[in-house]
Amino acid sequence: MLELNHAESLFNSLYGNINGYDISNAARRKTSLDTSRFLYGEIPFQTWKEIVELAKPKKDGVFFDLGSGTGRILMASHLLFNFKKLIGVELLEGLHEKAVEVKKNFDKTIKPQIADHISGQEFQLINGDIFQTDLREADFIFMNHPFKDGEIFLDLEAKFLKELKKGTKIVTIIRALRNPSFTKLCSQTYKFSWGDSTAHFFEV
Ligand SMILES: C[S@@+](CC[C@H](N)C(=O)[O-])C[C@H]1O[C@@H](n2cnc3c(N)ncnc32)[C@H](O)[C@@H]1O
Repeated sequence: MLELNHAESLFNSLYGNINGYDISNAARRKTSLDTSRFLYGEIPFQTWKEIVELAKPKKDGVFFDLGSGTGRILMASHLLFNFKKLIGVELLEGLHEKAVEVKKNFDKTIKPQIADHISGQEFQLINGDIFQTDLREADFIFMNHPFKDGEIFLDLEAKFLKELKKGTKIVTIIRALRNPSFTKLCSQTYKFSWGDSTAHFFEV
């Protein structure tokens, strides 16, 4: 694993000049999808580190960021933790394309310097819908409030219960899972790009 300050400075060199809000707005204007229910927001590097340390996911497990935006959470996780596979799923093409561009930049300029620290980690970016994604291999799932609609969230809970293995950990921001079949581990307030919000920690 990389030392924290080193990981954060590499992360900032990749994302310092990227405005995910502008990219999200432009991507919404370009798509034919109904994006009125979509939300965009970002998580500071330090906040993500604290969330994962509290969640304590399986070290060499498979991590999914559902609604992965420009890939910030995947990249921060790649630099900070030892997941064997990191998968981001983002529906909006413009955001997905930016994530692919950053990953290419990373592969070219940073990966050769830190190859020893990240060897064996698979990094996959999917331009697709959370609901069409096979989640059976997940050990850890993160969802930073991708949509407003509570009914859609219930559909997602049903998908989780159908596909996820026992022991899979799930962290959601703002909206908690409601089905009592999920074990609630804890809730904690953190700083996000839009202010303070609650992260909810669950286990299947
Ligand atoms: C609040 S943003 C989080 C971005 C990223 N996870 C982060 O924390 O930096 C939520 C993302 O979910 C995406 N999203 C919404 N519905 C989706 C769906 N059905 N499938 C995939 N992505 C979706 C949105 O386009 C948005 O980029």
